[in-house]
Amino acid sequence: MAWTERLTLAERAARAAGELLRTRFGRHLLIRSKGVRSNLVTDADTQAEALVRAMIARQFPDDAVLGEEEGLRGAGSARWIIDPLDGTTNFTHGYPFFSVSVAYEADGAVVLGVVYDPMRDELFVAQRGEPSRCNGGAIGVSKTAQLRDALLVTGFPPFAGGEPPNLAPFEELMVRGQALRRDGSAALDLCYVASGRFDAFWEPALHAWDIAAGALIVEQAGGRVSDYRGGALVLDGGQIVASNRLIHDGMIEVLKNFA
Ligand code: IPD
Ligand code: CA
Ligand code: CA
Repeated sequence: MAWTERLTLAERAARAAGELLRTRFGRHLLIRSKGVRSNLVTDADTQAEALVRAMIARQFPDDAVLGEEEGLRGAGSARWIIDPLDGTTNFTHGYPFFSVSVAYEADGAVVLGVVYDPMRDELFVAQRGEPSRCNGGAIGVSKTAQLRDALLVTGFPPFAGGEPPNLAPFEELMVRGQALRRDGSAALDLCYVASGRFDAFWEPALHAWDIAAGALIVEQAGGRVSDYRGGALVLDGGQIVASNRLIHDGMIEVLKNFA
């Protein structure tokens, strides 16, 4: 089945939401936390999600949509999966690294994914079976073959108290890799693995909207995605490892101890 119409819509919607975020960036925002102190949402998040939902509803009124801010609306064996603003903390601080993520899943498999970075005007696109692209040009993962030469990136889930998650893997992979970053937008981190800017990414507690599009973009760029044990990625399973494939086993060797 060709997904051309939905792919075009995903691209248009991600760009439109990104444009909205760009105009709100650095201006007054209504910010509140969602339960946990560090889990922020702004009126720009909700506006961007409403915009994407409206664009989908206009063209495909019967499609189910899962969005971070409004949850799941509709039912069926297919659904859109949206993160209207991935990197809200960055956004609220004026740190220009955030994205819009739009994916479409049919019969349990993500078939298309789009991630848009409005500050760099980079549109990452993947369709199952086709090479991933950035602004129309094919992208591919890096050729770094050794973990010790790898630039790694990770993320930390909103912290609710108790033992902070991900510190032990962070420490160990910091020693094993060449260098380590925390950039604050999982969807974009995945696209940077897909385009060879990072060699691998991992994070312990993500949601489907953070990774649905980005994981497909990594796979279709020649990379590998899995859970911490090297098994199939479960979108709502939380733990993800994404890499250029070559250093995946090295990542798993460490992360399986934290699965
Ligand atoms: C967050 C970002 C961040 C990751 C967090 C996510 P949000 O998403 O992807 O990089 O470390 O775990 O919650 O809340 O900005 O959409
Ligand atoms: Ca997110
Ligand atoms: Ca979000």
